[in-house]
Amino acid sequence: MSEQMSLNEAMYNCRAMRRLESREVPEADLIQLIDAANQAPSGSNTQNARWVVVRDASQKQKLADLNRKHAEPYIAPQRANPPNEKHKRLLDAVIWQMDHMHEIPALIVACFDYPEKVEGLGVYRSAGSVWPGIQNLLLAARSLGLGAAPTTLALRDQDAVREVLNLPETFAALCLIPVGYPKGKFGPVSRKPVADVMRFDRW
Ligand SMILES: Cc1cc2nc3c(=O)[nH]c(=O)nc-3n(C[C@H](O)[C@H](O)[C@H](O)COP(=O)(O)O)c2cc1C
Repeated sequence: MSEQMSLNEAMYNCRAMRRLESREVPEADLIQLIDAANQAPSGSNTQNARWVVVRDASQKQKLADLNRKHAEPYIAPQRANPPNEKHKRLLDAVIWQMDHMHEIPALIVACFDYPEKVEGLGVYRSAGSVWPGIQNLLLAARSLGLGAAPTTLALRDQDAVREVLNLPETFAALCLIPVGYPKGKFGPVSRKPVADVMRFDRW
């Protein structure tokens, strides 16, 4: 809730929050999230990241339908045979999100506007100029007491997303971030020890 939350506290406690209340988020907070995202760096400072904040019920339903279309076949084999209890809990949360996405107050779609029409893998060419903004947005949400999670499954069919959001053919939709007040508690992220993921000088 507080603006006083330290950057470290936000970074180490910024879990993917999927179970969210349907209670509205103030518009000023949504704008603040995009303003934070907009402070992130981009290649050559081209600033071509674009953000669509979807609040309209029928628009949210269309995005929720796209998410279900791609999430169901992705989840099904894992659901039948979850590797462990932790992964089962993750799947339960993804399923909750799939069933309730249309009720979540804001679905934020992070895009990149290319100089020309983009297709196929070209869509991801400048993803690196959008993801820093996505992380800024997630941290800003955490500091405002809002839950959020980066997702990509709904965006697998770029033409379908462009059609729903009226995006020009130069736009790639790279991440969909459902945002709302969390139903559960925030908590620390759980990651591999730093010694497992770094070396000095050479690998
Ligand atoms: C590139 C990327 C794509 C992701 N796609 C999805 C997705 O489609 N659906 C979803 O529920 N979560 C998605 N996530 C969220 C991850 O599952 C989550 O960040 C990861 O499990 C760590 O969760 P934690 O921060 O709560 O520990 C994605 C995350 C990233 C970085």
